[in-house]
Amino acid sequence: MPRVVVFDETGAPDVLHIVDEPVVEPATGEVRIKIEAIGVNRLDQMMRAGHYPGPFRLPHARLGCEGTGVIDAVGPGVEGHAVGDAVIVTAVPEMDLNGTYAEYVTVPAGTVIARPAGLDATAAAALWVAYSTAYGALIEKAGMRPGDHVLITAASSSVGLAAIQVARQIGAVPLAVTRHTAKKDGLLAAGAAAVIATDQEDVAEAAQRHTGGAGADIILDSVMGPGLADLAKAAGPGGTLVTVGWLDNRPAPFPMAGPRTILRYASFEHTLNPTVVRRIAAFLNAGLRAGVLRPTVDKVFSLDDIVDAHRHLEEGHQVGKIVVTV
Ligand SMILES: NC(=O)c1ccc[n+]([C@@H]2O[C@H](COP(=O)([O-])OP(=O)(O)OC[C@H]3O[C@@H](n4cnc5c(N)ncnc54)[C@H](OP(=O)(O)O)[C@@H]3O)[C@@H](O)[C@H]2O)c1
Repeated sequence: MPRVVVFDETGAPDVLHIVDEPVVEPATGEVRIKIEAIGVNRLDQMMRAGHYPGPFRLPHARLGCEGTGVIDAVGPGVEGHAVGDAVIVTAVPEMDLNGTYAEYVTVPAGTVIARPAGLDATAAAALWVAYSTAYGALIEKAGMRPGDHVLITAASSSVGLAAIQVARQIGAVPLAVTRHTAKKDGLLAAGAAAVIATDQEDVAEAAQRHTGGAGADIILDSVMGPGLADLAKAAGPGGTLVTVGWLDNRPAPFPMAGPRTILRYASFEHTLNPTVVRRIAAFLNAGLRAGVLRPTVDKVFSLDDIVDAHRHLEEGHQVGKIVVTV
C-alpha cells in the first residue's frame, strides 16, 4: 500500500512517521497525483511543532503544502488535465487531511498547474511556494517596478533567493541581507547587486550607502522579531515594507520610522485565486525559459528520511529549498 507521513501529536521532528494507506479515488473535479518530490516548508515545521495559528486535527494529521508529480487518475468532470501529465500542486487547503508528504495525493483539479518544460521533479518541488511568495509579495502586493531598490532579508532562504531572481527578472535592484559574511559571495553569485552582512555592518546605514542615500523602495522581510525597527530605517521616505515571514518569532516592534506603507503578505491570498495563479504561472514560465529563474535546492532527502529533513530545516543553515524525493 502507498506510504503517507503522519503525526499523532505535535513536537520534535521524530513525531513524524510513515504509515500505509489505500489510495483515494478522485471525486468529481479532482485529480490524483503520484508524487515524485516534495518541497519542505517552514509552515510544515510550524504545524508539526504546534506553532501553527490555524486549526488542524490530531491524531493522524498529514503534512505538506508543496509537491510535484504525475497525474495517475482523473475524476469525472475534469477538463484540461489527463493521466500522465506532470504537474505542480499550487495549494493544499486542508493540509492535515491531504498533505503532500505522501506517495499519492488527491486534490481539486484547480489546484494544479502544468510542470514547466525542462524542469525535473526535484527543481519543480523547489519552485512554487518560494517563487509564488516572492512574486506575489513583491509584484502583486508591493508593486515592484524596474529600477526599484529592493532589500531582501534572509536572502539565502528559499523565498529570499527567489526574490533576488524575481527582482532581476523585472529589472529591479536586489540588495541581499544575511547574518553571515561567509554567505556574501554565494549571494552575489545568486544575483544580488550588493550584500549586507549584519554580523559586520548596520543594515540601515549599508542600505543608505547602496542606494545613494535614497533608502530602499521596497523591503521584503521574512524575519520580523526585534530587528524590525532597525530594518525599517533602511526604507526610503516613500518606501514599502512587506513582511512575509517570522523566522525570528520574538515580538516585533511596530516600526515608527522608515516606510510609508507597511503590508503583510500571505500567499493564500493569491494561490486560491485562479486568475492570479495564471499570472504567477505565466511569470514563472517566462523567467524559467529566459534562465533568470533557477530554483535553488539545498539538500535532497528520501521520504524514509523525513525526520532528518525536518531536523535539517530546524538547524536553519540551509541555502535554498530542502526537497524530499518519493
Ligand atoms: N507569506 C507566505 O505566504 C510565506 C510563504 C512561504 C514562506 N513564508 C515564510 O518566509 C520565511 C522564509 O521561509 P523559507 O522557507 O524561505 O526559509 P528558509 O529557507 O528555511 O530560511 C533559511 C534562512 O533564513 C535565515 N534565518 C533563519 N533563521 C533566522 C533568524 N532567526 N533570523 C534571521 N534569519 C534567519 C538564514 O539565513 P542567514 O543565516 O543567511 O541569515 C537561513 O539560511 C519563513 O518565515 C516562512 O514561514 C511565508
